Amino acid sequence: PIPAGFDFPGIGFESIPAETRARNVAVHGGSDTAVLDRVSVPAGYKAELFVAWGDPIMPAAAPFIGDASETAAQQARQFGMHNDGMHFFPLPENGGRLSSERGVLCVNNEYTHEDILTPNGQELGANYTIHKTRKSQNAHGVSILEARRMGGKWTVVKNSPYGRRITANTPCRISGPAAGHALMRAKAYDISDTATTPTGGVTDGRSCFGTVNNCAHGITPWGTYLTCEENWNGNFSSDLPVDQSINTEIGKLNRRYGVSSGGFGVYNWHKNDERFDPAKNPNEPHLFGWVVEVDPFAPDSKPIKRTALGRFKHESAQYVVDAANNVAFYMGDDERNEYIYKFVCARKFNPGNQAANRDLLDSGTLYVARFDANLQGRWIALAPGTIGLDGKALRDNPNFSGADDAEVLAKILIKTRLAADAVGATQMDRPEWTGARPRIFGHDEIEIYCTLTNNNRRSGGDTSFPLQTSSNSPDGSTLAGSARPPFDAANPRPDNDFGHIIRWRENGKRVTATTFSWNIFVQCGDSRTTKTLAATYVPNLDFGTGTANYVGNVVDVPAGSADFGAPDGLWFDYFGRLWVQTDQVGDGSGDFINIGANCMVCADPNTGKVRRFLTGPNRCEVTGVTMTPDGKTMFVGVQHPGEDSSAANPTQFSNWPQNQWAVESDGVTPLPKGRPRSAVVVITKNDDGIIGS
Ligand code: FEO
Ligand code: CA
Ligand code: CA
Ligand code: CA
Repeated sequence: PIPAGFDFPGIGFESIPAETRARNVAVHGGSDTAVLDRVSVPAGYKAELFVAWGDPIMPAAAPFIGDASETAAQQARQFGMHNDGMHFFPLPENGGRLSSERGVLCVNNEYTHEDILTPNGQELGANYTIHKTRKSQNAHGVSILEARRMGGKWTVVKNSPYGRRITANTPCRISGPAAGHALMRAKAYDISDTATTPTGGVTDGRSCFGTVNNCAHGITPWGTYLTCEENWNGNFSSDLPVDQSINTEIGKLNRRYGVSSGGFGVYNWHKNDERFDPAKNPNEPHLFGWVVEVDPFAPDSKPIKRTALGRFKHESAQYVVDAANNVAFYMGDDERNEYIYKFVCARKFNPGNQAANRDLLDSGTLYVARFDANLQGRWIALAPGTIGLDGKALRDNPNFSGADDAEVLAKILIKTRLAADAVGATQMDRPEWTGARPRIFGHDEIEIYCTLTNNNRRSGGDTSFPLQTSSNSPDGSTLAGSARPPFDAANPRPDNDFGHIIRWRENGKRVTATTFSWNIFVQCGDSRTTKTLAATYVPNLDFGTGTANYVGNVVDVPAGSADFGAPDGLWFDYFGRLWVQTDQVGDGSGDFINIGANCMVCADPNTGKVRRFLTGPNRCEVTGVTMTPDGKTMFVGVQHPGEDSSAANPTQFSNWPQNQWAVESDGVTPLPKGRPRSAVVVITKNDDGIIGS
């Protein structure tokens, strides 16, 4: 909704300083082992706490206590832990106009930190009870809440009928081509607060429980929310050997997706809940790794796992509707040397009949990207008839062979990574979020951006890192070192510590295009050290019209003043500004000695100009950003402040947000002291202007 007479004015604020350790000592009188433990925004803007882990968001929810003594059942009605992608869905005002003062905010809760989640941490052994497992599961998923601005103040409507928690145990539906396939039929359970009990049967492959590791997100043009399952493999673990044979179907899948006995070593849910034990329920992992559609306005509706969009470690799913009403979703798979995908719906979007769009995500074509050195690219269909590198159609590849093409497609979708390996897609430097540039102010290209956050596992890079078990190789096996790809035009740094942002334009301005042109929008880095310059660069050809090469971020500002690294969250606002959020260590150490805290920058896609807008507290990640339709309110996520603190000392690295604000967003209730909390902050401009203007 661009106001009449509005012109894209670029970026209207100056960079705020990088919050480095040196600045923490010299300016803030703080520690030389940490960065400032606060959120900062430019002069003229106000940041306030909106909602944090443990806050009540639905009827009958308990207030946050502060010592983590809430029960699992109480957590299931409170804001989940470690929030990530989110979207503000405006509610209609009287007269039908979309409100910028009242809406439903859907927020992903990616993961949990057990040492902060419960009073004494996880305490494996007799003290690790089903109650602790359930609390962890109930802090995962999605938090849906009603946000309202009254008297200029944003608050959570605590008893709203829209308030909802989706957790690791919420009943879900499975739809699309893989639904019902034998690999999707898992052991069936009865789930209660105190036990997960096998029924003795198997599921029909069309239903399952829960969603986990909900990292980035998407929305649809028909008004639903997409929550994307990323590092779900880490939630599975076992005390028994897990099949990792290169000679079995499930063993190959487990290797390629990183399902192992050890999991991430932090959850151990399997000790109380055998559903998450892949040795006891080998098909359960196949029920995760999907894009999950949620209706934010129907709190009783079941989330739907849309298998047509493929199974991997999903980051965001960004939609574009082209001028002919074709609709596509652009998606990254965040692991080193994984791929970029798009899904094109078989049917067109119907702007006049939203009900007709509700199952558009169930049929279409999944493509994977190949970026060629000539700055052209190709979308390769992951379809039964596609010819792989071995000269055979995927339907003749033993990994996907089936009774008919319907079964072949189901296997391609369940084993998406293996299919992408087979057709020779380009291995990327950890694809995180995708963002589509709005077609406004004369820009009419379909232009998509994707953050490539970092990669230390290319050949020529840092060989001290072992190859992860799930790194790709054509047969799903992992032979140490053999799958380490060389650097290439689209991923030009042998050792990419700082990451970059790639962008592409669909040929013919249609999302159905199978070819595109591409370039690198920015190579991130520390422009004041030689480390950035020690890499091999490709010229940043401005789609054939220029040769700007954004080394570091030096475009029109002094060296270092807008540097950032490890780009992750990425979003175009409704006015064409590109917001980029970062996920590095976040304490100003090592490669980030000059870049300092994690941050959010604003970039001008026309000029490449970058400005630093927000810096986060110590050891946090800045992730998740959305706005009200008028652009005057921005919500920004701050995840895991004080990451890695211990159960014995949960405030070891951070005491945010209570060190920055004394009271809840109602302006009255004192904030509980104690452990750090992931949270959403709300940002407004003092002159009530558009954020970024
Ligand atoms: Fe959860 Fe790839 O970030
Ligand atoms: Ca991320
Ligand atoms: Ca990340
Ligand atoms: Ca992180």
